[in-house]
Amino acid sequence: MRFDIFTLFPEVCAPYVQESILKRAQAAGLLEVQLHNIRDHAPGKHQVTDDEPYGGGGGMVMKPEPVFNAVEAVLGIEAGAAPAAAPVILLTPQGRTFNQAIAYELAQHERIALVCGRYEGFDERIREHLATDELSIGDYVLTGGELAALIVVDAVARLLPGVLGDPTGAEDDSFAMGLLEYPHYTRPAEYRGWRVPDILVSGDHAKVARWRRQQALQRTRRRRPDLLDRAELTDADRKLLGE
Ligand code: ADE
Repeated sequence: MRFDIFTLFPEVCAPYVQESILKRAQAAGLLEVQLHNIRDHAPGKHQVTDDEPYGGGGGMVMKPEPVFNAVEAVLGIEAGAAPAAAPVILLTPQGRTFNQAIAYELAQHERIALVCGRYEGFDERIREHLATDELSIGDYVLTGGELAALIVVDAVARLLPGVLGDPTGAEDDSFAMGLLEYPHYTRPAEYRGWRVPDILVSGDHAKVARWRRQQALQRTRRRRPDLLDRAELTDADRKLLGE
């Protein structure tokens, strides 16, 4: 799968995608992340990418030409032609809120363009005539869309087959099952007097599975009752919650 990230600050994004799991995924040919500087596509000697808003008011607005030019050149769209086959997603606090279900949805695509805003935001024509979708990573305002784009790349990349070492790695994730995850422990079995729950060292796989399900259910009820309301619970789950 290929991501094209359009930004005024590619150097902010580069280090993150060049480490750890994303680095290995790219080396293995499972993932490609290309960074494009929007300024390179701005016309004129000064390559201006922002301007004052019509109608006055504070702040600057991202000009349409550099963003249209950059996305059309990289995706190979002719100016004014039909929208690209690949989704063109703006990162903005005005978008739909990104979550695990959207990550799964995006992981189905061969290629995705992510366009990072800066300043007060995008000229509305970018939203109307170039973007096919808009995503926000939460109800707060960042100085730009770069961190949001990296979050989307990261969450989607780890769902691609082969990217995580363990092929079932993403299946038990928090949210994947509609619940938060159960608690994890590793060696040593006792640390500063705090012991790992006996059941986990008992070797009884059925009991371990039941304990984990119960922990996930209880933790979700305590921390995210909204998720529990939407989760599909079995009769056995309801019994575990009651215990
Ligand atoms: N740009 C600024 N704030 C943002 C947010 N919350 N999500 C996505 N892009 C943004």
